[in-house]
Amino acid sequence: MRIGVCPGSFDPVTNGHLDIIERASKMFDKIIVAVLNNPNKSSMFTIEERVELLKRTCSHIDNIEIDSFTGLLIEYTKIKKANAIIKGLRAVSDFEYEMQMASMNRKLEPQIETVFMMTSNNHSFISSSLIKEVARLNGNIKGLVPEIIEEEIYKRFR
Ligand code: PNS
Repeated sequence: MRIGVCPGSFDPVTNGHLDIIERASKMFDKIIVAVLNNPNKSSMFTIEERVELLKRTCSHIDNIEIDSFTGLLIEYTKIKKANAIIKGLRAVSDFEYEMQMASMNRKLEPQIETVFMMTSNNHSFISSSLIKEVARLNGNIKGLVPEIIEEEIYKRFR
């Protein structure tokens, strides 16, 4: 069974993330969306909220598990017996850091591949941090995040 891990902060999940998750779910027998639990980084949504929102957003995908992890991604991927780490690339600017992480992860565990997928063109400018900034300043984030997330973000700022 081919298992792929889609890691990230998902604070919150965007339509860009969802696009990659949906496409990856067709390439692997099972996809594990792994939310990084990093207590040192301040976030808008708690780890439990992010997991819950991902579960609601991805409820139409059958071969999916939503989970959280702490520590090294490569260790988590090994424990889960997954074959690959799946990452979305939006622009050339993502490439350098992603390549560095992929090389480091391959050094730590050569058996696990990092697979890169190009984000769809209409999602290439979306990031969780920009979504939060635009929403905080009363801008329109419709179509950039799943509807459930849109409601949750506006609730926070109201
Ligand atoms: O959504 P993000 O914040 O861009 O996701 C980054 C993430 C979680 C994939 C990355 O920070 C990560 O893998 N963190 C876990 C710690 C780790 O394994 N660090 C070494 C990377 S080579």
